[in-house]
Amino acid sequence: MVASTENRKEHLKKLKKRIEKFSTPDEIAGYEKLILEILDLKEQKNAIILGHNYMTPEVFYGISDITGDSLGLAKKAAETDADIILFDGVHFMAETAKILNPEKKVLIADLEAGCSLAESITGKDVRSLKEKHPNIPIVTYINCTADVKAESDIICTSANAVKIVKEIDSDTVIMIPDEYLAGNVQKATGKKLITWPGKCMVHELYTEEDVELARKNYPGITIIAHPECHPDVTALVEFTGSTSLMGKYIEENKPKRVMLLTECSMSDNLMSDFPETEFISTCQTCPHMKKITLEKVLYSLKNEKYEIDVPEDIRIRAKKALDRMFEFN
Ligand code: 13P
Ligand code: SF4
Repeated sequence: MVASTENRKEHLKKLKKRIEKFSTPDEIAGYEKLILEILDLKEQKNAIILGHNYMTPEVFYGISDITGDSLGLAKKAAETDADIILFDGVHFMAETAKILNPEKKVLIADLEAGCSLAESITGKDVRSLKEKHPNIPIVTYINCTADVKAESDIICTSANAVKIVKEIDSDTVIMIPDEYLAGNVQKATGKKLITWPGKCMVHELYTEEDVELARKNYPGITIIAHPECHPDVTALVEFTGSTSLMGKYIEENKPKRVMLLTECSMSDNLMSDFPETEFISTCQTCPHMKKITLEKVLYSLKNEKYEIDVPEDIRIRAKKALDRMFEFN
């Protein structure tokens, strides 16, 4: 939980230590001013801020009450008793929070914060897939719209996709919309997966050559990939997992040097937790995640914009698919 009124000074001091590597003193002073205003408003309005692991450090550490990967944040969103949920992440994440909390006001600071995977498929596409492959369970990655969730049997995230596909009672599974995640799950489960040609515009940029080059330039390096990377890339790394599992791996294995094949802010955020580990930058940026800034969050909370809405018939069906996922955990 972020800084109550009494310990804000301490909070800002800790934040400064975490971000001074990336920020000038003027920038830090600007962030502090915005953060204090946001924290005040948050208290006044009984709001909670959920921050995805890809938020920049000043958003991640400065104002988030709860941080995590898609699975962790969806679980927390289902538990909160705040009146307002402000989601610092992308649209499908805020929409998931709304599906789970229809009575609460769910806000996102920029409605344009989308996702290339969510944009790759529509509910109509899923209906066509169902017609083409009747009676095959549809496991859908959480990076999709409410409409797509509503057409799915069960939702998964990068943290539980393998477990869900392994345990589902069918040798063939439709897994959409991330072709590379499906490729990685296929390798791990041995099941037949029917997939969809969606890709993450960030993770698809990593290549086998990036891994080979890093090994050559940084002997002894540990390389960790997100499962949205191509299966030929994940085949070459020490560990593949969700954004939160990346942090867990570093905590448990304490590598001397690490490279994360994922969005830039992930390393920036983990770096201050693991000062003994050297983080080698790869830096691919998600333009959607980077739309969320402190200025926009302040505007959002002040004006209670931009509100996420999901039509009730779609919400009920989408929630069913999400609830099935929660039953697996
Ligand atoms: P995680 O669920 O692993 O945090 O992934 C979300 C995402 O958008 C990765 O690109
Ligand atoms: Fe979507 Fe990729 Fe950005 Fe994650 S990193 S929000 S999957 S575009």
